[in-house]
Amino acid sequence: MKMILTIFFIFSLISISHASVVDFCVADYNAPKTPVGYSCKSPENVTVEDFVYHGLNKIGNTSNIYKVSFQPAFDEQFPGVNGLGVSIARLDILQGGVVPLHTHPDASEVLLVTQGNIVAGFVSSNKVAYIKTLHKGDVMVFPQGLLHFQINSGGNTAIAYTSHSSENPGVQILDLALFRNNFPSWIINATTFIDYAEVKRIKALFQGSD
Ligand SMILES: *[C@@H]1O[C@H](CO)[C@@H](O)[C@H](O)[C@H]1NC(C)=O
Ligand SMILES: *[C@@H]1O[C@H](CO)[C@@H](O)[C@H](O)[C@H]1NC(C)=O
Ligand SMILES: *[C@@H]1O[C@H](CO)[C@@H](O)[C@H](O)[C@H]1NC(C)=O
Repeated sequence: MKMILTIFFIFSLISISHASVVDFCVADYNAPKTPVGYSCKSPENVTVEDFVYHGLNKIGNTSNIYKVSFQPAFDEQFPGVNGLGVSIARLDILQGGVVPLHTHPDASEVLLVTQGNIVAGFVSSNKVAYIKTLHKGDVMVFPQGLLHFQINSGGNTAIAYTSHSSENPGVQILDLALFRNNFPSWIINATTFIDYAEVKRIKALFQGSD
């Protein structure tokens, strides 16, 4: 009896694990997004177009203080990456433009330069900054969670493609976190040692309050 039960148990495990194997989980935009992503579109309704994204073929909107356009192909734009832990985006940096210091708490990043020159770098937790001028064809990796930046280092518009180890990487942009909200100026002054008047000046630049 015990033997039969054991065999039955093993078989039911096999059938459960077999049933739970899915090749992909294309985002179903008709269902709400959850904290762990979208639910899966029914496989019979999945087509090859779910795995192809056409939106990165031209420059995006660069009318911002950074002179940058960042066009994501994350799970909200690209249903096929849902659940895969990867994504891609196009980055255009005009002359004089900069991607400000920011972190992705949940993703590492790979950057491939396809046009122009970019000074890129990150700051490690042990006080070392790793900075390099990248040219067409160069690739740099930015470890998960570390502050990093990209600057157009001269010449024409720089173009790069960035890939993240998440289909929906989070981001915290340092100067927006500090200066484009209601973070009290005296606390910024006290915690960063940036002069109070300078805190006020930068807050005005980013429309932060206080
Ligand atoms: C597949 O798509 C059709 C048309 O949108 C829809 O009516 C149908 O319910 C979908 N099938 C499943 C299993 O979701
Ligand atoms: C570009 O972005 C700016 C700032 O968000 C906005 O005012 C403008 O309408 C956008 N231009 C286009 C063409 O979308
Ligand atoms: C700003 O911070 C510095 C350093 O902590 C402090 O000496 C100074 O009094 C602060 N300024 C104001 C206006 O609070």
